[in-house]
This record gives sequence, structure tokens and C-alpha cells, in this order.
Amino acid sequence: MEVERVQAIAILSKFMDTIPAEFIRSETEQPAITTVRGKVLEVPVIDLLRDEEEVVAAVAAAGAEWGLFQVVNHGIPEEVIGNLQRVGKEFFELPQEEKEVYAKPKEGKSMEGYGTKLQKEVEGKKGWVDHLFHKVWPPSAINYQFWPKNPPSYREANEAYTEKLRAVADKLFKWLSLGLGLDGHEVKAAVGGDDLEYMMKINYYPPCPRPDLALGVVAHTDMSTLTLLVPNEVPGLQVFKDDRWYDVKYIPNALIVHIGDQIEILSNGKYKAVLHRSTVSKDTTRMSWPVFLEPPPEHELGPIPKLIGDKNPPKYKTKKYKDYVYRKLNKLPQ
Ligand code: OGA
Ligand code: NI
Repeated sequence: MEVERVQAIAILSKFMDTIPAEFIRSETEQPAITTVRGKVLEVPVIDLLRDEEEVVAAVAAAGAEWGLFQVVNHGIPEEVIGNLQRVGKEFFELPQEEKEVYAKPKEGKSMEGYGTKLQKEVEGKKGWVDHLFHKVWPPSAINYQFWPKNPPSYREANEAYTEKLRAVADKLFKWLSLGLGLDGHEVKAAVGGDDLEYMMKINYYPPCPRPDLALGVVAHTDMSTLTLLVPNEVPGLQVFKDDRWYDVKYIPNALIVHIGDQIEILSNGKYKAVLHRSTVSKDTTRMSWPVFLEPPPEHELGPIPKLIGDKNPPKYKTKKYKDYVYRKLNKLPQ
């Protein structure tokens, strides 16, 4: 088998002090050079058991200033998160050929499946990460062919997590809506209502002999509306703030909320999609489980009409989500 998965390359690189050239970032990107050290940035941590008015204010402020925040007391039991993580880890620890059964189809443009790179990078560089994508909601959008059958509890663990996650997502949409001075239901309606699609991704970042030179996922904003992420205990998520890169603190059992491009667009720029990236680790495997909340492909999204006017001209075009995705993946102007 051709060695193309980073997990396989990592095994070959284990006793070396170098990594293949395509993983070495330019000096403007190398984490050792570009990360602010000695100062841990406190991204907002929002306790969802506080009074709703306070939560709305905190979510709106974090969405406008940071585009990223962590939530605690979100109502997803530790055990449900633990099971999601356990089955994902077990899948990635299967022999390579068992994972390849779920590989993204070579032809076609399916996002779903097991794979290595998402979009072409400048100068052909690669991220030190493999991934698995599959939709988890709504039932009509699910393609079970991309859900691992092994471990056998994979499906149950993903279903239990998704059910709990949906309740958190609905609350976040409501609070973001209230934070814009809208009725509680308006943001969710603008992103596709109950047709909103939940795309699960598992990122698997194997140990890397030169974490100072490589990146996991390169700097980007998510195309989604919101992304809700749980990491394992190995730090690696970084956020770009005031022109510098900072590590995001790991808080056990917190859910990390990213504002994606679509929320920035519908809010006409009040909320900001966060620029983020991930680093890798020398001796440990990092994993993360982002769920991208995406409008259905044919759904049109633009600034919410109530938020624009003579004093507030639209800053973004209205277009179908599938057209937005196509332009972003092909690096075309929106
Ligand atoms: C992503 C992403 C960050 C992480 O997959 O879009 O930003 O912490 N991942 O793994
Ligand atoms: Ni991301």
C-alpha cells in the first residue's frame, strides 16, 4: 500500500529527527517561531448555568470579540463525551487496511470518509493530520457507509453525543439571535432551521518528531455556522488574536465553540469567524472532534435583512451554501 496517511508516515519517522520536506512549514508559519510563549490567553469561558441574561451577554461579547469561546455546564454528560472519544480512538487504532474501507471515494467531491488532506495548500505543503468525516444529523442526510462498524459501539456513541449536542446548539443559536437584538428563533431559521446538517470530523494528529516545524491543520476560519469541538487532553488548538498566535487552554469536558463564516455573514460582521490552526506534539497523539453545523447545500444565506439598512449596508453577498463552499475550497473570492 502506498504510504500517504500521516499515521503511517509518523510510524516511519518515529526514530528520526526530521520529517518529510512537505510537512515543514515556511518560517512565517512554523509554530516555534510564530507562537506567543509565556502568556496564556484566556479565551472566554462561559458557564451555561448562569442566568440566561448573563449568558446571552457573554455569548454575544465573545462572538463579537473573539469568535471563539469555551462553554462549561453544557449538559453533555462526561460519559457521553468519553464514549465518543473512546470509539473514535479505537477506530484510528485499527490496522490501516480496516480504516481504508472508509476512505473517501477517489472520484467525486465527497467530504465524507477517511482521508488526509482537505484542500490544496500553497506550495503543496501538508498538515500532520488524518481525519474522518461523516454526517450525524439529520437522519435523512446520514450516509452510514462512512460510519465505522468497528468498534461495534461506534454508532451508539455518536448518536448519544449528537442528541445532546443538538440541545446545546439550539441554545447557542437562540442566544446569538438575542445578542443581535432579534427574536430567539431567527438565527436558526436563517441557517436552515431543522434542515441544518451536523458534520462530524475526527482529527487524528500522530506524534511528530519536529512539532516545532509542522502544523496540524493550517490557519483557517471554518465555513460552517458554528463548530462545536471537544479535544482530547493534548493541547494544540491555537487562535489568532491581535496579530499573534496563542495556545487555547485545555479545560476538561468543556465544549469549544467556534463562530464560522456563516454566522459572521448573517450577522453582517457583528460576530467574527475565528482564525485558528492546530499544532502537533512530539510524543503524544492529539485528537479532536469538531462538529460543523452547516446549512443544507441549496440553502441561501446572507446578512439577515433586519440587520441591514441605509446605515448598515450588507458587507457580504447572499449565496447558496454549496457555492460558498466551492469558492472557499478552490480559493476563489466570495
Ligand atoms: C478543524 C480545526 C482544530 C483542532 O478541524 O477545522 O480547526 O483543535 N481543528 O483540532
Ligand atoms: Ni477549524
